[in-house]
Amino acid sequence: MPSVFIKTYGCQMNERDSEAVAAQLVAKGYTLAASEQLADVVLLNTCSVRDNAEQTALNKMSDIIGQAKKQRPDQVVGFMGCMAQSRGKELIDRLPDVDLVLGTQKFHRAAEYLDELLAGRQKSIVDTEAEQGSEGTIREHLLTGKGAKATTAFVSIMQGCNQHCTFCIVPFTRGPERSRTIPDIVSECRTLVASGVREITLLGQIVNSYGKRDIPLRDGKSAFVQLIEAVHEIEGLDRIRFTSPHPKGYGDDLVEAYARLSKLCESAHLPVQSGSNRVLKLMHRVYTRERFLEIIDKLRSATPEIGISTDIIVGFPGETEEDFDQTLSLVSEVGFDQAYIFKYSPRKDTPAAAMPEKIRQEVIEERHARLFDRINEVGRARHSAFVGRTVQILVEGPSKKNDARMTGRTRCNKIVVFDGNARHRGQLMNLKIERASNFTLYGNPAIVNLD
Ligand code: 5AD
Repeated sequence: MPSVFIKTYGCQMNERDSEAVAAQLVAKGYTLAASEQLADVVLLNTCSVRDNAEQTALNKMSDIIGQAKKQRPDQVVGFMGCMAQSRGKELIDRLPDVDLVLGTQKFHRAAEYLDELLAGRQKSIVDTEAEQGSEGTIREHLLTGKGAKATTAFVSIMQGCNQHCTFCIVPFTRGPERSRTIPDIVSECRTLVASGVREITLLGQIVNSYGKRDIPLRDGKSAFVQLIEAVHEIEGLDRIRFTSPHPKGYGDDLVEAYARLSKLCESAHLPVQSGSNRVLKLMHRVYTRERFLEIIDKLRSATPEIGISTDIIVGFPGETEEDFDQTLSLVSEVGFDQAYIFKYSPRKDTPAAAMPEKIRQEVIEERHARLFDRINEVGRARHSAFVGRTVQILVEGPSKKNDARMTGRTRCNKIVVFDGNARHRGQLMNLKIERASNFTLYGNPAIVNLD
């Protein structure tokens, strides 16, 4: 049977889609290749949020094709995911050796199309059509991480986005919002837990919009909170997370869920994008700085230990020094545990791309550097406060940087590295934190007091 190598760019949603495609192919008898050079089929699962991400995938594909011409003339190569969706056939016009372009509603057709291509029945295939019900097709899991059983898993609960932030290409690449049903999601989670998964992260573009049109409020609780409650019932599951919510419509029912549902981890990734009301309005974010701060206050009152991370864009068209100062001050005021900075990148067909007041690249770079310093400073303070404390982690596997050490996360989503071994994988452990860097904690197994 053929072997496949899938390389993933971008967000957790993309990681999840790649996993589902890999699982689908393995179920058909494919093996997973260790590198692109060794694979019969290479798929690049692409990201479109910034031009940079697209260029990286395009360059990678050129390299793969160049190598294949010399060494593996029969290799089948394809793009899938967001850039495949937004650029479609244009990708083959540009790189004629590409065999497959698979859009975001077509991941479940990967095996069928690869069969055609490998058998030589078709020269190339492009499928970026919308498909009803495709939100329910990302459900198969590989359930192995580097040969061991997976401890954590992503579950895709919905597809698409209706928000139309003026900078964002996602509504074009992922389509309008469509949600899976609660029983369907719960059944997938049960299967995962039965196979050893202890932590589940529910994924969607705006998870707090989940089921809004299809599932009515119950006792004042939104569809999303009803879903968390249903997942919370699953015996054997220890931890629930979700990403990403939108500050718009971040209801009190969701705030209150943290205090009420013990498996829901004290952590929130809440993208703010800017600290300036003027810029937030231009971005069509539909909340203010004050409203954002109010949500943070409520979350911290409900669950003081909560870890809060965010996304911030620098250099949005028209962003002045004063606007940027507002972002800097917001970072200090909130005290984010982690923040991801994105340099604004104009995207095709988005309203912001047509806004006249572009920010010069050197100004973007300079603001990026200042924001980076501020985020590090705040992150360092938040992380060093853990030194001397004992925290619970779920051990996920070997540390990325040093596989002689193990790593896991606290409930508030801090990465902890410690000297452990493979038998700790999948365990909840108490660790005493000995030291901290800006965004990582280092600990030792705590001596449990048995009195
Ligand atoms: N330019 C820069 N960053 C962007 N993001 C989305 N679109 C753009 C863009 N055009 C960022 C946002 C979002 C994250 C996933 O990507 O911060 O939260």
